[in-house]
Amino acid sequence: MDTVVDEVTTGIYRLSTYIAEADFSFNQYLIDAEQPLLFHCGMRGLFPLVSAAVTRVMPLERLRWFSFGHWEADESGAMNEWLTVAPQAQVAVGAIGCMLSVNDVAIRPPQPLDDGAVLDLGGKRVRYVATPHVPHCWDAGVIFEENTQTLFCGDLGTQVGKSPARSTADLIGPAMAAEDRFGATALTPRTASTIRQLANLGPQLLALMHGPAYHGDCQHALLQLADCYAERLRHLQ
Ligand SMILES: [Fe+2]
Ligand SMILES: [Fe+2]
Repeated sequence: MDTVVDEVTTGIYRLSTYIAEADFSFNQYLIDAEQPLLFHCGMRGLFPLVSAAVTRVMPLERLRWFSFGHWEADESGAMNEWLTVAPQAQVAVGAIGCMLSVNDVAIRPPQPLDDGAVLDLGGKRVRYVATPHVPHCWDAGVIFEENTQTLFCGDLGTQVGKSPARSTADLIGPAMAAEDRFGATALTPRTASTIRQLANLGPQLLALMHGPAYHGDCQHALLQLADCYAERLRHLQ
C-alpha cells in the first residue's frame, strides 16, 4: 500500500491511498499557500503513510490548517495526530461540526467557520460552504478554493476503484453505482437543491475524496448528480 502524490492544479496536491482489499481509495488534498491547509485528516491507521506523503511536498510543521467535510474516521480520524506533528496548526471546520464533535475531541480549540466564511491562506482563499446532511451528516460542508476554482467535495461523487489523479471521465455512472452499493447519501428534499447551489459556484475542478480530481464540465456534472438524487427521492415517495 502506498500514498501517491500528484499536483492536480496549481499548488494543490492530491494524496491518494488505494486499499486493494476494499477496492476503494481515500484522498486528502494539500493546499500549498503561506498558510497551508490539508483537507481531510484521513484515518488514524493511514496517518504514517499520509504524513510521509505530505513531507514529499512540505515539512509537517509548516501545516497551518486542517479541515474536513464532516466527522467520520476517513475525514477526521487522525485530527489529533496532525495537531501533534504541526504545533502551529488549528482545525477549521463548520460551526456545527465544532459544536457537535471537534470542540470536545480536538486537543486544541478549533476555528469554527460559518457558512460563506473565507479563510485567506495567503495565495489561496478557501470559502466554507455548509451543506447540512449532503451527502450525509448534520455537520457536512465543503470548501471552495477561489483562485483555482476548486471545489473540495468530500464524499460527493464517491466512486469505487482506483482512479487517476485528474480525469474527465464520466462521474455520474460510477457515482450512482457506488450509491447503489453503499446507500451513503442522506436523501432528503434538500439534497438536490444543495448540490445545485454548489454547481452555481462554477467550479473548474471537483476534488473528490474517493475518486479523481475531475476537470471536465464540473457545473454540468453537479447538476446531473443533483438530478439523479432528485429522481431517486421521487421514487421513494
Ligand atoms: Fe462520509
Ligand atoms: Fe469519505
